[in-house]
Amino acid sequence: MDFKLTEEHLAVQEAARDFAQTELLPGVIERDEHQKFPAEQIKKMGELGFMGMMVDPKYGGGGMDTVSYVLAMEEISKVDASASVVMSVNNSLVCWGIEKFGNEEQKQKYLPKLTSGEIIGAFCLSEPEAGSDATMQRTTAEDKGDHYLLNGTKNWITNGSTASVYLVIAQTNPELRHRGINALIVEKGMPGFEIGPKENKLGIRGSDTHSLMFTDVKVPKENRIGEDGFGFKFAMATLNGGRIGIASQALGIASGAYELALKYSKERKAFGVPISQHQGIQFKLADMATNIDAARLLCLQAAADKDGHRDYSKSGAMAKLFSSKVAMDTTIEAVQIHGGYGFVKEYHVERLMRDAKITQIYEGTSEIQKIVISREILK
Ligand code: CAA
Ligand code: FAD
Repeated sequence: MDFKLTEEHLAVQEAARDFAQTELLPGVIERDEHQKFPAEQIKKMGELGFMGMMVDPKYGGGGMDTVSYVLAMEEISKVDASASVVMSVNNSLVCWGIEKFGNEEQKQKYLPKLTSGEIIGAFCLSEPEAGSDATMQRTTAEDKGDHYLLNGTKNWITNGSTASVYLVIAQTNPELRHRGINALIVEKGMPGFEIGPKENKLGIRGSDTHSLMFTDVKVPKENRIGEDGFGFKFAMATLNGGRIGIASQALGIASGAYELALKYSKERKAFGVPISQHQGIQFKLADMATNIDAARLLCLQAAADKDGHRDYSKSGAMAKLFSSKVAMDTTIEAVQIHGGYGFVKEYHVERLMRDAKITQIYEGTSEIQKIVISREILK
């Protein structure tokens, strides 16, 4: 077994690191403070190929593997987790979902614009009363022959106001329960589609999270993804890969905080020596480094499973469960190593600590990851 990255992997990693340091770092504190969406930066990420990394080049994508995607996600997330959630949703939920399960017309219509960053996408599964319990969809897509009539509310939608294309999960045939659910491509501007106010969040404040309201929205039948009733399977299959993206986001938040803490510990003096010479600090750094390496290995294993066409629902869930805990633990310790300076915005670690929390909640909470993992183990 060879754990070495290829030349291509290293080039992608370096390009993402460069972009994060030069384009995302300046302004990241201000965007967090004012909940400002990184619009210009996302546009540039599209131009550089970060918005549709794994999509076939014939649809404008980068044709890269999932390992490259994990490496890029880690580097972007070290600096700006708000930008990286936009990247993750666009790449692993929206582009992947359309490329894997959409028809040729849908792929040609949406993928080139989504991969170039001209437009971004959103993935709409959660509802006010259906989060973890995702089969309990209240949004309805009534079959009207040549179109569906969409009614209901979606909650917490990332890219809620900035997206142009929304993959909406809705119940068509309640008698069939989750087998009666459909996935529809809804475009911004369709009559009856309204966007609610922006959520005021603890972390990833640069990303825009909104509820969405649908009132008698006519969605043409040709906008359905897959066969009638495939919507819940579509959501689950797409989330299996999405979780690898969020796992690598968590990894990046952790490694970003660790790198800042390591540097600071060599510069800050207490009791006549750099604090890195105190064993109490050294042990924290040792724990952080060990946990981050373990999280990275789980992320890369899940990515390799996906690239190798092996089942990755368990490895993706394990990567997300573990990396998100490592993100939380590491960022808390990074603030501690910075002392009082860690508590103010200029030193970045307090933002990373706030950003870390969401990785234990979205794309399936940690408790849900444990359900996914244990079901696979016991199967
Ligand atoms: N992969 C593929 N198929 C799956 C699956 C998986 N990981 N998990 C379930 N399924 C399939 C099952 O095989 C079953 O299909 P059949 O009956 O046709 O065989 C069907 O889905 C229903 O499964 P269950 O009976 O297991 O359903 P359940 O209600 O007991 O539990 C659950 C399902 C795993 C808990 C699921 O509801 C779940 O994943 N919940 C979390 C929802 C979630 O992750 N939301 C994220 C929203 S997107 C987001 O958050 C984006 C963002 O922030 C940026
Ligand atoms: P609940 O499901 O009500 O859970 C509450 C608590 O109960 C949690 O701790 C949960 O783990 C626990 N719990 C629930 N069921 C069980 C069980 N069976 N066993 C043990 N514990 C359980 N959704 C989208 O569809 N698209 C998006 O783009 C999106 N972006 C988001 C962005 C942000 C900033 C946030 C906050 C959320 C986003 N979400 C999105 C929604 C997110 O996926 C849900 O919040 C998440 O799945 C949890 O659902 P819930 O909030 O309804 O919590």
